[in-house]
Amino acid sequence: MSELRGALVGCGFFARNQMHAWEDIPGVSIVAICDRDEARLAEMGDAFGIAQRFTDAAAMLREVQPDFVDIATTAPSHRALVELAASLRIPAICQKPFAPTMDDARAMVAACEAAGVPLMIHENFRWQSPIQAVRRVLSAGEIGAPFFGRVSFRSAYDVYAGQPYLAEGERFIIEDLGIHALDIARFLFGDVSAITARTQRVNPRIRGEDVATMLLDHEAGFSSVVDCSYATKLETERFPQTLVEIDGAHGTLRLDEGYRLTVTAPGGTRVEDVSPPLLPWASRPWHNIQESVALIQAHWVETLRSGVEPDTSGRDNLKTFALVEAAYRSAASRLTLDPSEV
Ligand SMILES: NC(=O)c1ccc[n+]([C@@H]2O[C@H](COP(=O)([O-])OP(=O)(O)OC[C@H]3O[C@@H](n4cnc5c(N)ncnc54)[C@H](O)[C@@H]3O)[C@@H](O)[C@H]2O)c1
Repeated sequence: MSELRGALVGCGFFARNQMHAWEDIPGVSIVAICDRDEARLAEMGDAFGIAQRFTDAAAMLREVQPDFVDIATTAPSHRALVELAASLRIPAICQKPFAPTMDDARAMVAACEAAGVPLMIHENFRWQSPIQAVRRVLSAGEIGAPFFGRVSFRSAYDVYAGQPYLAEGERFIIEDLGIHALDIARFLFGDVSAITARTQRVNPRIRGEDVATMLLDHEAGFSSVVDCSYATKLETERFPQTLVEIDGAHGTLRLDEGYRLTVTAPGGTRVEDVSPPLLPWASRPWHNIQESVALIQAHWVETLRSGVEPDTSGRDNLKTFALVEAAYRSAASRLTLDPSEV
């Protein structure tokens, strides 16, 4: 099997995790990197021994002609970069959030479909091993058909230190973090027919909302609650753990703090430690997210080789992104909305 040659655009805060993960995946290597900020480009190139460095993504993709491009920039640049990749028939991974607007996201999917190239959104939270463990319990039918679910992320971790742009946008927690929790809700409970959302800003030093509470009606016929907060000062900080509650016809599941999974089924209760591994390059408390980066990138390599659509393809992620848009519109209008209509 020939080695896949990747190129990365965006050498910022999070891309370092993506670079480490690529180093760990057999049969793939990043051969070129790009950032319009020369200092960041040099730092990343030196850290990972990448000689081919560009400040212009078009120049890089034309010259290097990689097998795929990993776009690790923030949302405003996503559409232009994905359309550039599509125009050169280069498969693309694009970081979340998909794009600034639904129209942009739809155009990106259309461009890649027209060019016949795969597009995967780097929606990694569903790949976290504790979330995969929850999904396995559901799929095995241990607790029966769910009739209630909750996906919860509550923290007061200072995310603004590493990602200062998070304090500056008109939109914050649903677009940045809620998007992951909404995707987990889709992954566990299926697609959504209606959403009702409420938001608040508790931290006066940021521009957008840092608290969101959302009620989802699933096509499967039950509701779930997705709640997230970056204003929750707990005795022990949980960042970046996503907690899950599911009540089913035959039992219950709880993914609690400390990656403690409790399953109560007709045969009794079992408690399992589903902590993610600490990869050699990872550091606490980010290791849960870092592991999921390695897993989603390995998934990309498999799908690229096999020609199968990635789980979080652009087409799939339009549905998660529609929930984000619908949540903001619901919070503003106080109406319950059908995400397929945004
Ligand atoms: N999936 C996750 O778990 C996770 C976690 C953190 C951040 N993210 C996402 O990753 C993305 C990047 O976040 P970050 O915190 O690393 O941002 P960042 O601002 O630290 O880094 C982005 C980099 O991209 C560069 N850039 C932007 N546009 C460019 C262009 N057109 N050409 C070349 N370089 C360009 C910037 O110069 C910057 O160095 C965001 O969309 C964020 O939401 C995802």
